[in-house]
Order: sequence, then structure tokens, then C-alpha cells
Amino acid sequence: MAQQKATNITWHEATVTVEDREKLLNQKGCVIWFTGLSGSGKSTLANAVEQVLHQQRHHTYVLDGDNVRHGLNKNLGFSPEDREENIRRIGEVAKLFADAGTVVMTAFISPYRADRDQARALIAENRFVEVFVHCPVEVCEERDTKGLYKKARAGEIKEFTGISAPYEPPLNPEVTVNTAALSIEECAQAVVQTLVKIGLVPAEN
Ligand code: ADX
Repeated sequence: MAQQKATNITWHEATVTVEDREKLLNQKGCVIWFTGLSGSGKSTLANAVEQVLHQQRHHTYVLDGDNVRHGLNKNLGFSPEDREENIRRIGEVAKLFADAGTVVMTAFISPYRADRDQARALIAENRFVEVFVHCPVEVCEERDTKGLYKKARAGEIKEFTGISAPYEPPLNPEVTVNTAALSIEECAQAVVQTLVKIGLVPAEN
């Protein structure tokens, strides 16, 4: 758990509220949290969902693991502590986006259940949608889009998720998609349908 370091700080209430912003944007701010192994298709799927929602005129944004690790989280590695801090920061950033009224998608392995639950706890009820991007590790390894599984097997990368570091699958995700069995378009439709069912986006004809 991150400690509060600063003292003598005061919380300021904004005069324009999240409800005001949502009314202006005509949408509900929310977090769509994709979790799964490296190579399971999180980023591809998050981008496919964004494409659908964007075409339906929603204001969206994708926070992507590899990209965020180039900037905001460039000082973090892959130890359990660093992964926890990675996910803590992303949870806080996602909260800001949702508060701004945006539909924000996060595509991080986020291997630890407790860290994902902590991110969920920051967000209002029914505004956090956990998407388990399910794909057997053998299939991810077979795909090996970035050549990292090969390196992990060779011992060149330590603590690699699914090989030498744990992945804790969600127990109660809002939706599970199997990218080994379905196309990305089918998985994206399943995610969008879940958003409609929860009432986060209106049904399109
Ligand atoms: S997380 O575990 O902290 O959520 P994150 O999603 O930010 O991970 O970053 C994962 C990406 O970093 C992978 O898709 C892969 O490209 C790269 N990577 C490099 N080293 C590792 C490692 N040891 N374990 C997992 N992914 C790694």
C-alpha cells in the first residue's frame, strides 16, 4: 500500500462536477480494465473496442502497458513491488480520466488480483468493467509477437508472467473473452455488449 507522504495538503472540490461533464459529453465516464497474459491480445482488443466506441461518437482513451512504461512509469520494472506500483498509478490515472467523463481502457497484464481490486475500489459502482482476456499460455507463447517468451524460456528475462512469475486470473470479471477461440472483432463485440448490458453505453441499431 502506498503511503501518504505529503502533509498540509487540502482536497479542493471542483465546481464543475463529473455529472456536469458527463451531461456535456452525453456519456458516462468509466474504466474498462483489460487483464491477461503478455500476447493475449489486451492492447489489440482495447484498440478494437475503442474503434467501435469512437465510431459511436464516444470520447475514449487507451492506456497501454508498454506505452505507459516509456513515460509515466519508466522508473518501474517487473518485480512484484514495481508491478503493484505500476497498477496503482494506472488505477489513479484511469480514475482521473473517468472523472473527466472519458471511457478509458487500460491494457496491462495486471497479474495480481489484489492490485486489480484496489483499482476497482477507486471507481464508482458499475463504472469499472473488468475484462479477462483469456488465452492459454501455450497459445501466447506460440504467438510470441514480441519474442519475449523465447527470451524468458532462455532465462534472458527473469520474472516473466506465465513462465516464471504468477498470473492470477479474475474470479468475477464482468466479461471473459477467449482470444484463442474468437476473432478480435467478436471479442470486441462481446465487450461492447457488456457495456450496453450494464448501461454504460446505449445500444446501437
Ligand atoms: S504489469 O505486470 O506491470 O501489469 P505491464 O502490462 O505494465 O505489466 O507490462 C507488460 C509488458 O512488458 C509485456 O507485454 C511485455 O511486452 C513487457 N515485459 C517485459 N518484461 C516483462 C516481464 N518480466 N513480465 C511480463 N512482461 C514483461
